[in-house]
Amino acid sequence: MVEALAVASGKGGTGKTTSTLALGMALAEQYDVTVVDADMGMANLLFHAGLADVETTLHDVLVEGGPPVEAAVYDRYGMSVVPCGTSLADFASADPTRLRDVVASLATDTDVILLDSAATLSSRAAVLPIVLADRVVVVLEPTIPSLSDGLKVQEYATSYDTGTAGILFNKVRDDDAIDRIAPKAERYFEGPTLASVPASDTVRAARRAGQPLLAYAPESAAAEAYREAVRGLSVRDGDSAAVADRFRSAVVPESL
Ligand SMILES: Nc1ncnc2c1ncn2[C@@H]1O[C@H](COP(=O)(O)OP(=O)(O)O)[C@@H](O)[C@H]1O
Ligand SMILES: [Mg+2]
Repeated sequence: MVEALAVASGKGGTGKTTSTLALGMALAEQYDVTVVDADMGMANLLFHAGLADVETTLHDVLVEGGPPVEAAVYDRYGMSVVPCGTSLADFASADPTRLRDVVASLATDTDVILLDSAATLSSRAAVLPIVLADRVVVVLEPTIPSLSDGLKVQEYATSYDTGTAGILFNKVRDDDAIDRIAPKAERYFEGPTLASVPASDTVRAARRAGQPLLAYAPESAAAEAYREAVRGLSVRDGDSAAVADRFRSAVVPESL
């Protein structure tokens, strides 16, 4: 079985990478989880997951004649993690559309694929993870501009037949009146509010330590919020072969 979820938001800095690894670790208690850094132009998942020094990354795999994806899969924190390199030259020589084959190949051997995504509204190329995913988890900060960006992400997703698994509020402060905002947001998004993750120095400290939040501070309120999010996220039971076929034949937006 397999379902591919893109963790997405309109702009950068909302906490997509942090959330991808946190949701991944929480899901890994139940499922076989593979996390892919599909933010290929501004990859930084490797810094969040202690993988900054690895030899082979997704960039190498995406180059014509490159190694098979297995060479870029690392067992970390109970998950399979596929980091992406940070060199602009490598990004230039990589063919992002090959991500289809990479995800298809990973789909044959995992339960859940989480695609850490680029800010969707930043470029046409950034929609690729949304095109490939079954559903998106939209990461929002509890502000009107962020909600509005998130709705655009959902609009893109819908136009590629990608559903909304839920929304995740991040960097929530006590004075954000989240109790008022979340029910309103639910009227506009197709999926439920999965959790509200507090703004917290612990989350930043985990990033500085190069560890996913759930490894660095498993008892923190933020970590608990991600576990709660996963309790509300019912992973669907896709047929691996059918899902792999779909990825391979996905129609990639023209300007990629
Ligand atoms: N809940 C939070 N509280 C405080 N800082 C956070 C929180 N979530 C993320 N951050 C910080 O915000 C910055 C951006 O997070 P990141 O996950 O890299 O966002 P994105 O992938 O969306 O660009 C990082 O420095 C991260 O540590
Ligand atoms: Mg990121």
